[in-house]
Amino acid sequence: MSKKIIIAIDGFSSTGKSTIAKLLAQKYNYIYVDTGAMYRAVTLYAKQNNFVGLEKLDVSGLVSNLKNISLSFQLNNDLGFAEMFLNGVNVEKHIRSLEISQLVSKVSTISEVRTKLVAEQQIMGKERGIVMDGRDIGTVVFPDAELKLFMTASADKRATRRYKELIERGDKVEFKDILFNVQERDRIDSTRQDSPLMKANDAIEFDNSDMGITEQFERICTLVEKRIS
Ligand code: DC
Repeated sequence: MSKKIIIAIDGFSSTGKSTIAKLLAQKYNYIYVDTGAMYRAVTLYAKQNNFVGLEKLDVSGLVSNLKNISLSFQLNNDLGFAEMFLNGVNVEKHIRSLEISQLVSKVSTISEVRTKLVAEQQIMGKERGIVMDGRDIGTVVFPDAELKLFMTASADKRATRRYKELIERGDKVEFKDILFNVQERDRIDSTRQDSPLMKANDAIEFDNSDMGITEQFERICTLVEKRIS
């Protein structure tokens, strides 16, 4: 019998973390949790309630309303993965917009937001058998994860991937805005005081600027096999 483990995948935005995480979850029949979607959903709530904007962040307003935010993942059988629900409403498409991408790093600096989401994430991983991606999974959420991966790629490659995704779904965006957003999020995510994005000492780094998904996935599966057998 193979052992159920926690696979923690951290790294910069648009480094293909979720693609790898979904493939791993499928192969090993694990739960996949996209923690970025949780921060994005809180950001959507903050925006809808006027607690955040390009020039504004009302920390106390948002913090006093955190109790009114209920997040859940619900499986979409057609897509084969779970979608993000905010207070019972499917917000999957909304949270992926450039508008939310421009605000999410700011909201993610708030310690009270992090405490709430980290606690929810730790509950999801209690039984192990989970693949979780984000920025602080191997360092804060599951420092005892059996396998920690840290993904990187050049900002240009990442912005190109993100741009393609947004254009394919019909959003009207410009490449220069996407590149700026990727660089700006790198900066805020890596320099915030509370749990900044950093590689855990025991994480294995993958620079996938020039590595295809298949090659990466095969290498990662070899690492998984070693830990579950
Ligand atoms: O993975 P993503 O690009 O969807 O994440 C969106 C933002 O959420 C990211 O720029 C920073 C924040 N985030 C975080 O602070 N901690 C996490 N564990 C996941 C995401």
